[in-house]
Amino acid sequence: MVVLGIETSCDETAASIVEHKNGKKKVLSNILYSQFKEHKKYGGVVPEIAFREHVKLIDKIIIKALNKGKKKFKDIDLIAATGGPGLHGGLLIGTTVAKSISLSINKPFVPINHLEGHILSPRIEYNLSFPFLVLLVTGGHTMLIIAHKIGKYEILGLTLDDALGEAFDKVAKLLNIGFPGGPQIEKYAKKGVPNIKFAQPLINSNDCNFSFSGLKTSVLKKVSEKKNSIKFKEDVCASFQYTILNILEKKSELALKIFKKKFPTKKKNFVIVGGVASNLFLRKNFNKFAKKNNCKLFVPNKSFCTDNAAMIAWTAMEKYNKKKNNNLNFQPLPNWQI
Ligand code: KG4
Ligand code: ZN
Repeated sequence: MVVLGIETSCDETAASIVEHKNGKKKVLSNILYSQFKEHKKYGGVVPEIAFREHVKLIDKIIIKALNKGKKKFKDIDLIAATGGPGLHGGLLIGTTVAKSISLSINKPFVPINHLEGHILSPRIEYNLSFPFLVLLVTGGHTMLIIAHKIGKYEILGLTLDDALGEAFDKVAKLLNIGFPGGPQIEKYAKKGVPNIKFAQPLINSNDCNFSFSGLKTSVLKKVSEKKNSIKFKEDVCASFQYTILNILEKKSELALKIFKKKFPTKKKNFVIVGGVASNLFLRKNFNKFAKKNNCKLFVPNKSFCTDNAAMIAWTAMEKYNKKKNNNLNFQPLPNWQI
């Protein structure tokens, strides 16, 4: 089976070909255009600009994905596109293009939940069996989830306000160090010393929920108190990352306890997914965390952490077969939950 996947839920225009052949699933191409340049001067994603860029690029990206995967439209068995959650304009472009291809080649279209794409993304590279614990950290969501099986996800906790990626982006914006914030904070933090104490909202709440808006305000207070030298910015970034690590570790420990209670005899498989999971400081420290907590950690390659179409095609391949009913009446779901 050959699946064409399309991802346009935010500011990445992406297409991918995934193939299931001789019992093996493989990503044949994973093409992506990140609209950083277009949104940079606004310090965040502007939905209307994202929409226009998707319109401009989507057909070229799909053709590139087909060429790189050495496939033609006639080889495709299933077309998948992100159906939500995300920005309505982008979702509309991806799903409409996918439906059009579906109609013209007479193969089924399936909408995929973007969060499910992130959750299953480690299975692209790793032989990861269910159940597993997921720390999902993106620009729009922050959650601890138990993935019981394909299609069954139990949310243990989530952010009550800002998502973690959003907090990275907002802190970078108030430090005026560029967009997207995550990679910039990571860069500045490398030279900084974590010598500033920031608030850690909900750290002692004894549940798996998060809150990052208070942390952002706490950073804002320090920034407006001090002169903004490069050295100061580096220390803020290092301290911010350190605080984040502390919060994520504390909440993950609680979630692992719940996981262990539910599945006393199962391996403690723990995955971190989403754009923030590409942060090397977090990746390195979570390796230590996994050893300490006696669990097996899986973090996707960076290219599968940030938004990509391979995870969308992959999820379609895991969930459906060639005979899947067509979903031509599907309308984008900007707030689609898992
Ligand atoms: O998963 P993703 O690409 O898109 C969403 O589904 O939202 O996540 C994007 C988020 C952005 O907020 C971005 O700043 C953050 O991931 N991010 C990072 C890093 N790279 C991307 N955060 C921290 N460190 C990074 N290296
Ligand atoms: Zn995402």
